[in-house]
Amino acid sequence: MSIRVGIIGCGLMGRRHADGYLQLPDRAVVVACCDSNVEAAADLARQIDQPDVRVLPEWQAVIDDEAVNAVSICMPHHLHAPLVVAALEAGKHVLLEKPMAMNLAEARLMVDTATRVGRVFMVAQNQRYIAAHDYIKALLEQGAIGDIFAVRIDGNQLLSRIYPPGHWLFSKATSGGGVIRTTAIHKIDLLRYLVGEVRRVSAFQKISGLNPGMDCEDVAAISMEFVGGAVGEAFFTFAARHAPISTATGELTVLYGTQGMIHNVGGWHVHSEVIDAYREGPTPLNLPREDAQQSFQREVRHFVECIESGQEPLTSGRDNLGTIAVVDAIYESIASGQATDVARIE
Ligand SMILES: NC(=O)c1ccc[n+]([C@@H]2O[C@H](COP(=O)([O-])OP(=O)(O)OC[C@H]3O[C@@H](n4cnc5c(N)ncnc54)[C@H](O)[C@@H]3O)[C@@H](O)[C@H]2O)c1
Repeated sequence: MSIRVGIIGCGLMGRRHADGYLQLPDRAVVVACCDSNVEAAADLARQIDQPDVRVLPEWQAVIDDEAVNAVSICMPHHLHAPLVVAALEAGKHVLLEKPMAMNLAEARLMVDTATRVGRVFMVAQNQRYIAAHDYIKALLEQGAIGDIFAVRIDGNQLLSRIYPPGHWLFSKATSGGGVIRTTAIHKIDLLRYLVGEVRRVSAFQKISGLNPGMDCEDVAAISMEFVGGAVGEAFFTFAARHAPISTATGELTVLYGTQGMIHNVGGWHVHSEVIDAYREGPTPLNLPREDAQQSFQREVRHFVECIESGQEPLTSGRDNLGTIAVVDAIYESIASGQATDVARIE
């Protein structure tokens, strides 16, 4: 029988999740669209264009609806914990947009609840569902670049170009933090997947003034040391008028290994002393082209598979505790002016 899904939050990401379910017509059906902005919910319901989709302004009505057995939560961050706990307690499986939580205490409460009630709880860290990242993970597991000893990542966006003034992402009370909790978290989670756990961080932040009304950081410079010994540098901003780097997404990822390098400048390139195809120098990865939406489709499919099979998601809430711990450690380092051990936060 199809999984019956309620979409809670019908903004940018709610629409993307809905599209993911629409790709799986025999396995999942969206039965409720919920948003306090009723027009947004009604608009998504119209796009879904299936019989009997309910349009609901109150999320509690979705939680109380016994016809719903899974929810996608695409809401402001301060609502994640109360909503996830209520949904799990009501027996729903939960796919939650990143960041899992405003802090590690909230994250632990959600994970403990999911464990107790025995429902699937997955965090939508879509970077792990990008096909190129899967391919790179496989290369790393083959030892293609030897041991990774250094990484560089960055991200460049202008928040005020994406969301209108006064949007909840501009306020720490509803976002739990700026570019670190909202965007750097994507690559921190990806690096945990590709490189391993982070041992220690040291960070600085800035509010640029380019995002009117923003009361939390829109620039962050972060240094990292990994448990495996690698060191890393991360720079993220919501205040970039232009992406200064030639990548498809304005984001940089560089992995330095003892026997090669992988980077995404001008597309993904691999240089490997170990694998013949990449021995000559930086060689473009010949991967099928994919747009961002395909990673969201793959992510939603994985959630549905996990409900069907009972397997733990790749990006389970339990796994994501490690990502939230790094994010919390970064904020603690900024507050204290000291390098912070992630283990102290966990
Ligand atoms: N994976 C990604 O690449 C990515 C990109 C953007 C956003 N996100 C994440 O997705 C989540 C949602 O972000 P978004 O960009 O879709 O935001 P959004 O503002 O576009 O959508 C949020 C929706 O929630 C609704 N809402 C707010 N309070 C509500 C309430 N109390 N009851 C019912 N509805 C309410 C709003 O009306 C809005 O339509 C966030 O966690 C964000 O960090 C992820």
